[in-house]
Amino acid sequence: NILVETRAGTGEGALSYGWITLNRPKALNALNDALMDELGAALRAFDADDGIACIVVTGSEKAFAAGADISMMSTFDYAQAYRGNLISRNWDTLREVRKPVIAAVAGFALGGGCELAMTCDLIIAADSAKFGQPEIKLGIIPGAGGTQRLPRSVGKSKAMDLALTARMMDAAEAERSGLVSRVVPAAELQAEADKAAQAMCGFSLIALMAAKESVNRAYEAPLTEGLLFERRAFHALFATDDQKEGMQAFLQKRAPKFTHR
Ligand code: HXC
Repeated sequence: NILVETRAGTGEGALSYGWITLNRPKALNALNDALMDELGAALRAFDADDGIACIVVTGSEKAFAAGADISMMSTFDYAQAYRGNLISRNWDTLREVRKPVIAAVAGFALGGGCELAMTCDLIIAADSAKFGQPEIKLGIIPGAGGTQRLPRSVGKSKAMDLALTARMMDAAEAERSGLVSRVVPAAELQAEADKAAQAMCGFSLIALMAAKESVNRAYEAPLTEGLLFERRAFHALFATDDQKEGMQAFLQKRAPKFTHR
């Protein structure tokens, strides 16, 4: 249900990056348990691989993912949903990944598809992207962060609008409201995601992970605690070889050679 590749970073000593393509084209990449299990396993493997700096998750031109698989869920009762932790069991895997994860979104990102994109660290969108939380049409509500992450990025009114009216938001509106970091023509989506991943491959992995961890604290902690966490992480980086190398390279006007130590 997914395709997994490792792409080499360019530049001397650069790390590589993982590239995961959701691949259930006939169902617009609807997220069933099998797909989520494969995705969880691929993410865990890349996260554990010392040669990998970051991971890109993408779909097809038509759909990033059109949501949780409705045919799988349609007959579930409460006990099955609750006992089986419906849809949820591999979502926590994504939160546990410590390396940066980029969602490259073209076409539909609906329901669980929108939630999957939001669980990634940043979203790069094609101009064809359409985001929405249309679960209300099915007699349910978002179940993997749509009522929690969406208001944190686009604010209450727009989150309510999407969750209560089921309307879709296009890429321009998604960028305007802060859901996505950049929008590019659909034909350039892959190249743009490659470029972002390549940039990360040239940096210190320890610094990348610390930056991700610190930004995420902004969503978990009050400002004073978040600032303290950031400062401690910042101080800790002065214990790394990569900080010495990065600053020496700048002063000597040469490219740094990070060793991720
Ligand atoms: C299962 C799906 C699907 C889904 C599309 N398909 N979305 N199958 N689950 N979520 C299937 C269709 O049944 C169809 O299969 C094929 O993909 C192509 O879809 P069409 O509808 O023919 O395409 P189109 O007319 O272009 O419309 C695209 C669409 C529409 C607007 C995206 O498919 C749609 O509304 N899909 C459902 C979106 C949705 O409600 N998502 C939220 C799901 S609930 P066949 O075999 O007929 O060709 C959810 C809860 C999350 O996500 C909980 C936590 C994870």
